[in-house]
Amino acid sequence: MSENILQADGLYHVYESKAIDGNVVALRGLHIKMKAGEAVAVVGPSGSGKSTLLKCLGGLMKPSAGSVSLAGENMTRITGKELVKLRQNTISFIFQEGNLLPHLNARDNVAQPLRNQGISSKIALSKADELLDKLGMLHRAKAIPKLLSGGEQQRVAIARALITNPRLILADEPTGALDPVTSREVLTLFKKLHEEDQVAFLLVTHSKEVAAFCNRSLELRDGRFVAEHGKSINVEDLSEGRELIVDDMGTVTLPPDILTQMGGPGRYSVGELESGLLSIVGESVASPVSIELVLATSCPACNHDYGDSDEQLCPSCGSSRPMVES
Ligand SMILES: Nc1ncnc2c1ncn2[C@@H]1O[C@H](COP(=O)(O)OP(=O)(O)OP(=O)(O)O)[C@@H](O)[C@H]1O
Ligand SMILES: [Mg+2]
Repeated sequence: MSENILQADGLYHVYESKAIDGNVVALRGLHIKMKAGEAVAVVGPSGSGKSTLLKCLGGLMKPSAGSVSLAGENMTRITGKELVKLRQNTISFIFQEGNLLPHLNARDNVAQPLRNQGISSKIALSKADELLDKLGMLHRAKAIPKLLSGGEQQRVAIARALITNPRLILADEPTGALDPVTSREVLTLFKKLHEEDQVAFLLVTHSKEVAAFCNRSLELRDGRFVAEHGKSINVEDLSEGRELIVDDMGTVTLPPDILTQMGGPGRYSVGELESGLLSIVGESVASPVSIELVLATSCPACNHDYGDSDEQLCPSCGSSRPMVES
């Protein structure tokens, strides 16, 4: 199947706030295309917009601008029942925690998405048992979430996510709350679903094992995709093996470490240019040489000589003492 399971164009999201520091622009014009059955990781520092992106892509939150298509249907255009139906039939979510309804036992939690689709309780519960068994949780089927450990709750959440046979799983740090052994088991299951059932995954992760399971990783910084990484991604040092992304509009966002190394923001002229190659040469690049600032030796207002003192205010006229280049 060559159809895109997910496509987003020009995605922006602003969290409106009346607080003194104002609105937060969490996503700044993102484009993404995922083929059916593809596994993609989203990596990036805390606050870069990963969770916001996932919620907008999954239709849990309406983006401020831009469009999202799921299995070829424009999700940002539809609302209400239609949106719920499209989501139910196509995607499942797994969050880091808090996936389960607290008053339902494990079995009922897992069965619930099928019941919501109008499938009989008997069929839903028997499929729930099958999945709980697969995840090694059948013996805890009657327990309510608060009696389960974090790892056990996550396995129940995964069973719940799988019960509708989704074509795409959106997961926010799915193994973040799991011990290494459970985490590996979950990943093995994901691999099986990916390879045997062509389930697509979009996973937010800080884990190198999770990222390595994916076909590629997208690096998010300050609400923009800055680069793509292959399977050999080093999540601890994203400057390794990174490929910058130039989108359809010709936009490229440089990761902060590259920008600093090349001399910072400024004007660059086009150097060598041919297919597959572009070099740019700094013209009026902000000087990379750091300037050392020291307290002024005399007052710019009244010429008072500060001598050896480190006073901040001029004792003669009261002006504040400026910092100057050494
Ligand atoms: N409900 C909200 N209201 C206001 N601002 C928010 C809200 N949720 C997130 N933000 C802000 O939006 C930006 C992106 O947040 P987001 O949660 O998407 O980041 P993240 O990459 O998932 O971070 P983490 O790795 O810590 O989970 C941050 O600056 C965050 O403070
Ligand atoms: Mg997050």
